Amino acid sequence: MARQYRITLLPGDGIGPEIMSVTVEVLKAIAPSFDLEFTFTEAPIGGVAIDATGNPLPEETLKMCQNSDAVLLAAIGGYKWDNLPRNQRPETGLLGLRAGLDLFANLRPATILPQLIDASSLKREVVEGVDIMVVRELTGGIYFGQPKGIFATETGDKRGVNTMAYTDAEVDRIARVGFETAKKRGGKLCSVDKANVLDVSQLWRDRVVALAAEYPEVELSHLYVDNAAMQLVRAPKQFDTIVTGNLFGDILSDAAAMLTGSIGMLPSASLGAPGKPGVFEPVHGSAPDIAGQDKANPLAQILSAAMMLRYGLDQPAAAEKLELAAIAVLDAGYRTGDIMSEGGKLVGCKEMGEALLKVL
Ligand code: IPM
Ligand code: MG
Repeated sequence: MARQYRITLLPGDGIGPEIMSVTVEVLKAIAPSFDLEFTFTEAPIGGVAIDATGNPLPEETLKMCQNSDAVLLAAIGGYKWDNLPRNQRPETGLLGLRAGLDLFANLRPATILPQLIDASSLKREVVEGVDIMVVRELTGGIYFGQPKGIFATETGDKRGVNTMAYTDAEVDRIARVGFETAKKRGGKLCSVDKANVLDVSQLWRDRVVALAAEYPEVELSHLYVDNAAMQLVRAPKQFDTIVTGNLFGDILSDAAAMLTGSIGMLPSASLGAPGKPGVFEPVHGSAPDIAGQDKANPLAQILSAAMMLRYGLDQPAAAEKLELAAIAVLDAGYRTGDIMSEGGKLVGCKEMGEALLKVL
């Protein structure tokens, strides 16, 4: 009997619906050959949810996600919703989803594809062969720490406050994901903190060092975040797996993504406790400037579906099939505008989808 999976689809805003529909077609196409059966249910999040309900993460959407085997998210946000109060912003819906599913581990690969090496703004010899996995803590740190807010002081001035806080248990669980990930990759883990200044980082470092004893096969190093940012653009090949907190991971993962020159190609996985649904989404945003024009690159969404198969549903063979298909269409010369270079065959989102279906 086919293995059945309930997948919640969150197409969101901007180019989201276009790249999602291509991805669903591709998933449907590969399902039978791996004896998989997907039930797709769509729900609103972000701007479309604000327009429909006033809430960027309606309760039904969160419930549906909690009751599924995996969640495939496209992108949220757009100019239209940028000036709403914080609790009604699309980003708040995304943070609510992360918190509501306890997605504490965010895996963001930055792998340079030989076909796209000239799209990088860095020299070929600096980026050739780059293959980095950023493991970012996603439900703690300064994004969620209390107290937070804008408060009136006694003098009548305002004071804006956010709090960077981690408990040892929070550090331990993300550090373990870091060690386990490094173990399955190149065996090197770099923990990034700001322990020379921040107490929260000192605790972070102490815990990572303590856990290292359980992973003798992993070579552990530490960098302060400012130096890590510099090293990422100076000599990115020194990195294999990076583990870091929420804010540092937000910043460093964008820098790592840009090494590849093609942010439109990068997927991510956000994972909670084993057996609980993860969320799989492209690293890029909703690109409102090209929305609805059939120009978007669907490959990051396709590769996010591959991460869903690999990390969320434990179907590595099906994951590999999608990854190889994405490489095959690049090898065949197909390019959307964002990764176009000389000699490429410029296609839109739909045509890229058709090319993928053909290779599959
Ligand atoms: C990301 C984004 C989000 C974050 C925003 C949209 C809330 O930048 O996923 O990296 O800061 O985490
Ligand atoms: Mg970010």
